[in-house]
Amino acid sequence: MLDGSDGYVTEDGRKIGAVVMEMKNITLRFGGVVAIENISFDIREGEIRAIIGPNGAGKSSMLNVISGFYIPQEGEVWFHGAKRPPMKPFEVARQGIARTFQNIALFEGMSVLDNVMTGRLTHMTAGIPAQALWKGRAEAEEVANREVAEKIIDFLEIQHIRKTPVARLPYGLKKRVELARALAAEPRLLLLDEPMAGMNVEEKEDMCRFILDVNDEFGTTIALIEHDMGVVMDLSDRVVVMDYGKKIGDGTPDEVRSNQEVIDAYLGVSHD
Ligand SMILES: Nc1ncnc2c1ncn2[C@@H]1O[C@H](COP(=O)(O)OP(=O)(O)OP(=O)(O)O)[C@@H](O)[C@H]1O
Ligand SMILES: [Mg+2]
Repeated sequence: MLDGSDGYVTEDGRKIGAVVMEMKNITLRFGGVVAIENISFDIREGEIRAIIGPNGAGKSSMLNVISGFYIPQEGEVWFHGAKRPPMKPFEVARQGIARTFQNIALFEGMSVLDNVMTGRLTHMTAGIPAQALWKGRAEAEEVANREVAEKIIDFLEIQHIRKTPVARLPYGLKKRVELARALAAEPRLLLLDEPMAGMNVEEKEDMCRFILDVNDEFGTTIALIEHDMGVVMDLSDRVVVMDYGKKIGDGTPDEVRSNQEVIDAYLGVSHD
């Protein structure tokens, strides 16, 4: 399926480009716990890349390394052809990487619109002194940011709740608002940590559709962690499988599904 460094065409005819994110020999420890042990994998432009594995395998830790929340003790992170120095999460966000969290991280007391607007923070250039000196520029920026937020709200079909405080929303909609906040940053790479966890079947179907639409309409590269194997196999182009901090599989859904080590560690056992 892979044809050299330029990319490949998926079964459904989507064009996947060059490598945008490369993790090289990443090791991450917490005291004596090795959360990630010498793992390498890449993510290509336009790809939907899944990370799967049992609880505690190190999946969230890997996403946290990509998003700059954790700095690995060993290994290199390459993004768009450049080795990334240790960076703070906001610096990583400025490079065009946005994320959602395994446990929803929203401002519960604020409206949906205001939460989505927080996703624009990395794009705000006019600081407070500038706002005082050039009121016009700050206002123009506010208007532009609001337009992007409203566009994303329309796209994710949450107009009807745009003024509602997040605390009043059911779980499935909160997850969608969190996706909206991440998308408001107009990321090149979107990281989703269990975007469908705890959802009912209908909510999962909606979320799957939105993930595919984001990838299709904005061309966003997506890396996602998910336990629902039906969803993973349907959505993703390639899958990394982790177990106890190690990589035990990497390939197309068909390839990992028939990988005996993956079956033994994860697919063959029940896990919720
Ligand atoms: N901040 C931390 N401090 C100490 N240990 C941690 C920390 N974060 C993760 N770990 C440990 O690292 C290992 C991997 O955890 P991680 O959360 O990455 O797993 P996961 O694959 O996302 O699991 P789950 O499917 O349950 O979300 C676990 O043993 C966990 O206890
Ligand atoms: Mg996790």
